[in-house]
Amino acid sequence: MRKRTLLILVCNFFFSLESSFGAASHPVYAREGMVVSASRWASEVGVEILKQGGNAVDAAVATGFALAVTYPQAGNIGGGGFMVARIQDGLTFTLDYREKAPALAFRDMYLDSAGNVIPGRSLSGVLAAGVPGSVDGLLKAWETYGSGRISRQQLLRPVIYLALHGFPLTRRYAQLLNVYRDFFAQDDGAAQVFIKHDGTPWQEGDRLIQKDLARTLKLIARYGREGFYTGKVADYIVAEMKTGAGLITYDDLKNYHAKFRPPVEGSYKNYTIISMGPPSSGGVLLIEMLNMLESFPVDSLGWNSSAYVHLLTEVERRAYADRAELLGDADFWEVPVATLTSKYYARERMRDFDPTSTTPSASVYAGLPPPTESQETTHYSVVDREGNAVSATTTINTSFGCGVLVEGAGFFLNNEMDDFSLKPGVPNVYGLVGNETNAIQAGQRPLSSMTPTIVLRDGQLFIVIGTPGGSTIITTVLQVILNVVEFEMDIQEAIVAPRVHSQWLPDIIFAEPWALSVDVQRNLERRGHTLQIYPGNAIGRANGILILEDGLYGGADPRGENAAIGY
Ligand code: DON
Repeated sequence: MRKRTLLILVCNFFFSLESSFGAASHPVYAREGMVVSASRWASEVGVEILKQGGNAVDAAVATGFALAVTYPQAGNIGGGGFMVARIQDGLTFTLDYREKAPALAFRDMYLDSAGNVIPGRSLSGVLAAGVPGSVDGLLKAWETYGSGRISRQQLLRPVIYLALHGFPLTRRYAQLLNVYRDFFAQDDGAAQVFIKHDGTPWQEGDRLIQKDLARTLKLIARYGREGFYTGKVADYIVAEMKTGAGLITYDDLKNYHAKFRPPVEGSYKNYTIISMGPPSSGGVLLIEMLNMLESFPVDSLGWNSSAYVHLLTEVERRAYADRAELLGDADFWEVPVATLTSKYYARERMRDFDPTSTTPSASVYAGLPPPTESQETTHYSVVDREGNAVSATTTINTSFGCGVLVEGAGFFLNNEMDDFSLKPGVPNVYGLVGNETNAIQAGQRPLSSMTPTIVLRDGQLFIVIGTPGGSTIITTVLQVILNVVEFEMDIQEAIVAPRVHSQWLPDIIFAEPWALSVDVQRNLERRGHTLQIYPGNAIGRANGILILEDGLYGGADPRGENAAIGY
């Protein structure tokens, strides 16, 4: 591997490249089953598994592996993610396959001798990588909650085929790979696969072939988790660490295990919210924010009115202030989930809300004392004919992760270590700050914003939803849900509708360019808010399914090349 210079292209950049925001089309309708993911090829793999008799978990797992091939900037086996699922008999589970800090990781590993964060260290190169969790997680989900009718070989066969024979690039995907050319050129492994051999730019219709990745997938098909965490693939990962002072060892890989965790649950009016708890902040914040909103007449404020955006912003700043101070990996910290998601806490938190003026973030703090120590992303939604539902968000953090492709094994490693709080108060790549609860510790999982979510209406499956977007994930999921339940949009309209975002710090309301009329902007400024167009323009890329009595309605975000496919 050649010496790396810092070049980080965050997913927002990719959003701007991908954004086309076609006219709001209708949701995709199907009766039997539906997969909505960031790639047409991956959605097709999932639907094929459903047609072969697999359930939503089987299909989600196949889709997840397929995204590793057809959406390598995010849906990658070198990273991690979360799955939230509801099985038709009402059983819900969440699975945490978030990356872990290697055993050799330590608190100040990205600081220089003066105690300052070394720019780029936690983002670029192998030192930025946490121990990957996706393979163990996906296989664990399939083994535990799959239908039992689909073998591991069956799951992976179409995925291996896509890696071996390639898939035709769309115009936008070809353009993306061309934009990232200099980024790939810094890593021999990445350059071999992602820069065309004759040096010419990628064109629409070219096939992306990933032979080494196909071999890795074959090993997984044959040996299960052992095919990835031990043997040849482990050798390749550990060898890659040596090229850049990375920390992941054979033991880290062998000891990595995904964990089933209880979902966080809350209610909003007659809706039940089932989402991901720590080490994600997503579910807790989503429920906390919905609780804060519940006592306001949200629908009569009017969609994206100044009163509505003001209310959202005030709710968001309180919730994100709590995130910075109180949330972390529950294996290491007593995260006060029950309190943060309680109605009482939400009421107390909103006591100083003023509909006419802003509460500056500088005067907003976490609502509880900090606990003491107890010891480019993608989302896909799947529903099958039995009403089983899976909501899964997976990531290697920024697009193409730390930029290092594991040579011989064919996949990018994540740069998830940047999701830790490297130093109190110093923002990460998404501008998020944190403190003690999210400081680096060996074996700890970095705090995430990923919010795969399932919503029930009167106890019945209603929405399956999630999105990428770093810190904007939680507010995007919140707005899509409110668009459906308060503003009566269909799932496609709810996903297409322009979004706003705020996160306590920086004290700014970010908006997509067409989200707020000039009148609304003036009224928000009059209340004391500062407004800014979101860098890269587009906020999130949500993929969801709405389940109504007559069938399934898939919504795929036109901010990316997402595809809802049903049958
Ligand atoms: O886990 C998190 O919150 C981040 N690593 C997610 C990154 C992300 O969404 C990037 N994609 N746009």
